[in-house]
Amino acid sequence: MNQIYIQDVFEFLESLPNAFVDLAIIDPPYNLKVANWDRFKSENDFLDFSFAWIDSMLPKIKPTGSLYIFNTPYNCALFLNHLRGKATFQNWITWYKKDGMSAHKKRFNNTQECILFCSMNPKKYYFNCDSVRLPYDSVSRITHAAKKGILKNGKRWYPNPNGKLCPDVWEIVSERHKQKVNGRTQKLNHPTPKPKEMIERMIKASSKEGDLILDLFSGTGITSIVARALNRQFIGCELNKDYLDSSLEIKEVK
Ligand SMILES: C[S@@+](CC[C@H](N)C(=O)[O-])C[C@H]1O[C@@H](n2cnc3c(N)ncnc32)[C@H](O)[C@@H]1O
Repeated sequence: MNQIYIQDVFEFLESLPNAFVDLAIIDPPYNLKVANWDRFKSENDFLDFSFAWIDSMLPKIKPTGSLYIFNTPYNCALFLNHLRGKATFQNWITWYKKDGMSAHKKRFNNTQECILFCSMNPKKYYFNCDSVRLPYDSVSRITHAAKKGILKNGKRWYPNPNGKLCPDVWEIVSERHKQKVNGRTQKLNHPTPKPKEMIERMIKASSKEGDLILDLFSGTGITSIVARALNRQFIGCELNKDYLDSSLEIKEVK
């Protein structure tokens, strides 16, 4: 527990007991060739790999647990089809990154990634909507509504003092964009680090203190770092130990 194993995802998953983790937050390869680990001979090879780790992972999640999987919208559509009958679809989260992947002139420019949110049980799973409320958009309307309420379907509605419910479109600036210097992209230690605030939102909404978070394909280990900061337990695996943040305990498996 609370270690990242330097190990291939399949060997690592085999070593875990079934029904072990409360929440899986998985940021796997996307087949976009951003690094050697993201190169596959063909789309079919990529899908075989992806479906294989999904199938090895699902039994490790508790029957009341949940999972989040990152990818491109196209790959997420294929993953979701593969997940039918194995997990319950809850949300298609659109991550609006404010940072286009590349400039397309023959189609609309890509500015989003997708996150699939599923639960293992259709109804019995933890979700704390209050822990991830966001500020209301219209300050003046909400200030007015807080005093007098707004008439909705014959009832008076008062805004929640902690903000609005979190929607399924997440406007969070990418790390790549955040770390630009004078508009120039910098070479990062890891090519695809995920923003801390995005992981925080998933962990707060879908787990309680003390719960165990699975961090396959750890990369920098940001999911585990956030889990630790929020008093959750974590366990994960990564092939390249040089990517991992030095604050994490690393276990090399020979
Ligand atoms: C998309 S990145 C994860 C980035 C991470 N979420 C972060 O924010 O730093 C995917 C990671 O999976 C690792 N990886 C790729 N294939 C793997 C495998 N078969 N087993 C374990 N790790 C693997 C890569 O080294 C890479 O760091």
